Amino acid sequence: MQKMANVYFDGKHYLVPDDLTIMTAMEYAGIRLIRGCGCRHGFCGACAAIYRIKGENRPHFSLSCQTKVEDEMYVATLPFFPLNKKDYDLNELTPSDNIMMELFPEIYACVGCNACTKSCTRALNVMQYIAMAKRGGFEACAHISFDCTACGICSARCPANISHNLVGLLARRLTGKYIQPEAAHNTAAAAAIAEGRFDAQMDEIMALPMEKLKEMYDNREIEK
Ligand code: SF4
Ligand code: SF4
Ligand code: FES
Repeated sequence: MQKMANVYFDGKHYLVPDDLTIMTAMEYAGIRLIRGCGCRHGFCGACAAIYRIKGENRPHFSLSCQTKVEDEMYVATLPFFPLNKKDYDLNELTPSDNIMMELFPEIYACVGCNACTKSCTRALNVMQYIAMAKRGGFEACAHISFDCTACGICSARCPANISHNLVGLLARRLTGKYIQPEAAHNTAAAAAIAEGRFDAQMDEIMALPMEKLKEMYDNREIEK
């Protein structure tokens, strides 16, 4: 017989099968996900959730599409967290020592509490990638932050009000544009697209019925 779990979404009680993820349990409970749901596979970071198991002192941080429900789980979702977004033109930047100071000075107020790392839904060493950004180690920052989904949980926890994922993103952009050697196969692929070499193939795909497109999407190759 299917085992059930008592869960609470935004404080309201539901009884759901215990083998569902938080996301599918919400849908099972009849909640229509308009925000806070994207790729459903742990990549897009749209589905951040905070939960606490009754009786436990500490809250947990997770992606709701990747986390199974548990009995007596109290869940709040965090589809969006306001960050300190900066406008810049990458073509006008250089990977200089003072670029982080200009754009994200708050990283120098990090108190080393490690709350960001402990809460990261992708188990990244967030404190370390911020430390790398502080000392101009853009390539290391880019590498450590590479799997960041921009879910925003670490920023919700940070006492120094750092927008971690934007710092990692800038480091990856600087690394890609100025530090890493050019990826010739990417440049060639971009040129082929610009020349229209894939136009016929795209037109063919665009003409397919929605069901066929869904099937192709579900069976697409995903890089491990
Ligand atoms: S670094 Fe922050 S924004 Fe990125 S995945 Fe981890 S918790 Fe989410
Ligand atoms: S949560 Fe903020 S202050 Fe604490 S270690 Fe991470 S970046 Fe530094
Ligand atoms: S829906 Fe994209 S990470 Fe969960």
